[in-house]
Amino acid sequence: MLEHGAAKIYAGVRDPATAADQDVTPLRLDVTKPEEIAEAAAVAGDVTIVINNAGIASTGTGLLEGAFDGARRAMEVNYFGTWAVSRAFAPILARNGGGALVNMLSLASWVGQPLFPGYAAAKAAQWSLTDALRQGLREQGTLVIGVHAGFVDTDLGAWTDAPKISAADVAEQTLKALANDQVEVHADEKTRRVKAALSQPLNPQPRA
Ligand SMILES: NC(=O)c1ccc[n+]([C@@H]2O[C@H](COP(=O)([O-])OP(=O)(O)OC[C@H]3O[C@@H](n4cnc5c(N)ncnc54)[C@H](OP(=O)(O)O)[C@@H]3O)[C@@H](O)[C@H]2O)c1
Repeated sequence: MLEHGAAKIYAGVRDPATAADQDVTPLRLDVTKPEEIAEAAAVAGDVTIVINNAGIASTGTGLLEGAFDGARRAMEVNYFGTWAVSRAFAPILARNGGGALVNMLSLASWVGQPLFPGYAAAKAAQWSLTDALRQGLREQGTLVIGVHAGFVDTDLGAWTDAPKISAADVAEQTLKALANDQVEVHADEKTRRVKAALSQPLNPQPRA
């Protein structure tokens, strides 16, 4: 973002000591803690772009077994966390001319996932929220962007050897979307194929 001309960047992090980059201003921010969200919004009243990137897997919750705790946690961070931060910063974006809100979504926002159903459901909920925010913040001039990607090469996707794109690639595409007022990013080939297929009729599925 600095390379693209951002004057100042805040990094919302749970532990400010992990934001070692001299060019960013760390803000203590756990998106599940209302008091930290309120404090971040009080400090960062000059922002014009908010990126909701925080997200977790739904570890431990299988489709047919395992406690629901992991799926509940994913809903808490990915969905309610995004919602709470968006609420807190919407008036700030309005005061600063509209600006933009970017939500980091997924290919799993559109397609249920038997291997990680809780994560996919949280990403689907976050997608619905993104749509609602796009409509609800239109009048105040806020561009709301949903970024959809398949596997990205980060800690979250480390469990699988499936093909991945880099986080830098996703970031570049997102910055382009910001520059071009584009409401969705489809970051990789698989995501683009799935998006195109959403309007196709479902194939009849033979019974086993
Ligand atoms: N990796 C993929 O394949 C993939 C694909 C599509 C979409 N995404 C989405 O991309 C986003 C970034 O994920 P990633 O792949 O970069 O995963 P990651 O490497 O595991 O990073 C997740 C980030 O979320 C932060 N976070 C987790 N819980 C938080 C909380 N309660 N409050 C504030 N921050 C919290 C983590 O902060 P700490 O450093 O404090 O742990 C970490 O910085 C997520 O929304 C994810 O769903 C990922």
